[in-house]
Amino acid sequence: LATGAPLDASKLKITRNPNPSKPRPNEELVFGQTFTDHMLTIPWSAKEGWGTPHIKPYGNLSLDPSACVFHYAFELFEGLKAYRTPQNTITMFRPDKNMARMNKSAARICLPTFESEELIKLTGKLIEQDKHLVPQGNGYSLYIRPTMIGTSKGLGVGTPSEALLYVITSPVGPYYKTGFKAVRLEATDYATRAWPGGVGDKKLGANYAPCILPQLQAAKRGYQQNLWLFGPEKNITEVGTMNVFFVFLNKVTGKKELVTAPLDGTILEGVTRDSVLTLARDKLDPQEWDINERYYTITEVATRAKQGELLEAFGSGTAAVVSPIKEIGWNNEDIHVPLLPGEQCGALTKQVAQWIADIQYGRVNYGNWSKT
Ligand code: PLP
Ligand code: COI
Repeated sequence: LATGAPLDASKLKITRNPNPSKPRPNEELVFGQTFTDHMLTIPWSAKEGWGTPHIKPYGNLSLDPSACVFHYAFELFEGLKAYRTPQNTITMFRPDKNMARMNKSAARICLPTFESEELIKLTGKLIEQDKHLVPQGNGYSLYIRPTMIGTSKGLGVGTPSEALLYVITSPVGPYYKTGFKAVRLEATDYATRAWPGGVGDKKLGANYAPCILPQLQAAKRGYQQNLWLFGPEKNITEVGTMNVFFVFLNKVTGKKELVTAPLDGTILEGVTRDSVLTLARDKLDPQEWDINERYYTITEVATRAKQGELLEAFGSGTAAVVSPIKEIGWNNEDIHVPLLPGEQCGALTKQVAQWIADIQYGRVNYGNWSKT
């Protein structure tokens, strides 16, 4: 943990927004475009440690133009969601996982770490202030964006001596308005999202900007997202800003396999990824299923698709939860991923989405995954 005063939720100061807004109709909610009435800010300095947490009206920040966030990318963020349950309570989904990951990101770029439990409590207070703006209904939730930036003035490259942790929240709707919409991916080997010894496993803003140009290039060719490949073997790593899963059939044994890449430092440790693996290991019959974190390549996918052994593919992430994949462009051909007749996804994809939604919306209790 950072030195100086610890992060202490009991010091919270609240300044209410004098102009509370009315909830927008669900159909107007666009991902990350509108924000609630309040934000949480917590200053940090090397001298004093964590300062007073403050919930105040949502508004602009004021920073020195030489602040290190603007020059050397001292920035990290998180993304998690809060859901309205049938009992009309509001719960966050696995916030402990996001806080742990946020601390790892902070440590990697010399920004201060903090007491995770305290930030969960403070985020709960922020949601409480704006609880009338948490939408209701399947697919609707409050997206929570904790962020940390280095605010030290000056152009010297070094450890930030001042930082700001802030949290903003955005009421959001389903990623795909009309249920699932399977996407087409371009397998990308000419640009690399993450590499061994790099920071692709941390949620740093600097990881995202360089991925937009390859996305635009893929879009020109009719693909919505990049399927990021790595290395001479062309290992499959992630898709766009999500983790990715494939389902194979072993025609010899008749067994099915759910596969995703291992956490070797090039993969963002997705909370949804972990949830999918945990639920699959818990609920699928081990006589019928293998669930593996292993290396696999675009060549394996292409070959097994030709043999009729590719059953499903989907991305996993907080925003879309699961996002089915229908085609993958590779070597001037499209690899076709089967979908259920008349539907936009495969059977396991559908099942996984249902398991997770039931837990997120508090219809099913699972472990300590929901935090009210
Ligand atoms: N991979 C990347 C690069 C991401 O940015 C995210 C996003 O949030 C994920 C995977 C999925 O992580 P999570 O399931 O925690 O949202
Ligand atoms: C996700 O939640 O899946 C994301 O990729 C978040 C994104 C807006 C960075």
